[in-house]
Amino acid sequence: MNIIKATDYNDMSRKAANIISAQVTLNPSSVLGLATGSSPLGLYSQLVERYKQGDLDFSRVKSVNLDEYLGLAHDNPQSYYYFMNENLFTKINISPENTHIPDGMATDGQKACEEYEQAIRALGGIDLQLLGLGNNGHIGFNEPGTGFEQLTHCVALTDSTIQANSRFFEKPEDVPTKACTMGIKSIMMARKILIIVNGKGKADIVRKAFFGPVTTEVPASILQMHPDVTLVADAEALSLCTL
Ligand code: GLP
Repeated sequence: MNIIKATDYNDMSRKAANIISAQVTLNPSSVLGLATGSSPLGLYSQLVERYKQGDLDFSRVKSVNLDEYLGLAHDNPQSYYYFMNENLFTKINISPENTHIPDGMATDGQKACEEYEQAIRALGGIDLQLLGLGNNGHIGFNEPGTGFEQLTHCVALTDSTIQANSRFFEKPEDVPTKACTMGIKSIMMARKILIIVNGKGKADIVRKAFFGPVTTEVPASILQMHPDVTLVADAEALSLCTL
């Protein structure tokens, strides 16, 4: 695993943007796996800036998002569909038909998950998958205990994730309790993985995930087995690790 230490959130965002920029420049038809949450916000604004400066062209890029809440419509500001359009897609020249996000309003969630996995394969698989790290070690919405062999599937979120995500919702009862997520196997099939982590609050889970045993209790720990992973983390997130 390649570990890049950043000084702070902005530095992490710039360093991660360098990696995505290199990917898109070297392979303009890349399939990017994208993530939501607070971690990638700075990275996305970096990509937007670089696009505006004429340094990046997304016209042939395709994207697949990691996950989506079940029960939130596209126009719900908390849906990941809304998030991606607001923070990235409408600010760069990616074609809307080249962007893919699981359908949060699917009536048959299981079928939608299977179709999503097939769509990823039809694109030729993911060239570079961006990930954030959940407080309990989840990636996408693969919560502790999820089998490593899972493909895209529906999940019931754990209390800790519902609690962590409640900061984005007005009322606790508005926080979705279910989601559709790429599985660990879907993520591990990506040719390259970039995971970004910042802040003191994640220092303990960073140590467990990248320096502890590989266990389904810490889903991100499986990334230790992937042949091409880059962790970009700030000094606070790496503060409990001996590099
Ligand atoms: C959510 C998302 C994950 C994300 C995680 C961390 O649960 N499903 O994909 O990585 O939150 O979020 P944050 O970056 O805000 O800490």
